[in-house]
Amino acid sequence: MALMDVLLDEMRDLYSAENQLVKALPKLARGANDPSLKSGIKNHLEETKNQVQRLREAFGHLGKKPTGQHCNGMEGLIEEGQDALEKDEEGANKDLCIVGASARVEHYEIAGYTVAIALAKGLGLKEVASLLNENLQEEVAAAKTLFANAKPLLKQAASEDDAHENEEESKPKSAKEKKSEKESEQDEKEASAEVKKRGR
Ligand SMILES: [Fe+2]
Ligand SMILES: [Fe+2]
Repeated sequence: MALMDVLLDEMRDLYSAENQLVKALPKLARGANDPSLKSGIKNHLEETKNQVQRLREAFGHLGKKPTGQHCNGMEGLIEEGQDALEKDEEGANKDLCIVGASARVEHYEIAGYTVAIALAKGLGLKEVASLLNENLQEEVAAAKTLFANAKPLLKQAASEDDAHENEEESKPKSAKEKKSEKESEQDEKEASAEVKKRGR
């Protein structure tokens, strides 16, 4: 596999990821209660549409088509975002679940662009690297904004927790939550022999 093909794979993965986000971000924005979080996500949705255009431009430089690869990683992260929306949480706690899911999305994108930029530079593709870098800078800024949004939410969540201190915590689990719980136990089981070797 030529280095150019590795770059194209990475860029197609990002292209699919950004297109999936154009569909998913409005749902996250709708689910957010906090006005700053909501407007931050909406803002990043507009940036994301631009990022799709920039990627198309970058593919144009290479004379290649942008489609060809579905990003499974982003599909999984968006599913986790959906789980955050469906959680039986309210107020600041729900917003913090949305921040958690969104931060994972941004850092996944940051990893993807960082690798793709290094590959483009390695191939001497300055224009492509520069377009990818514009997207990367927006992802970095979006991740920072999310953490800035989280700060007041953490304070708010702590006081909401105090107010609900005496409430019962035993809500019945959904089928999806039960399946997730089983799978996490299986993960632990499969890793346990290797983890034990660390001797802690
Ligand atoms: Fe993006
Ligand atoms: Fe992003």
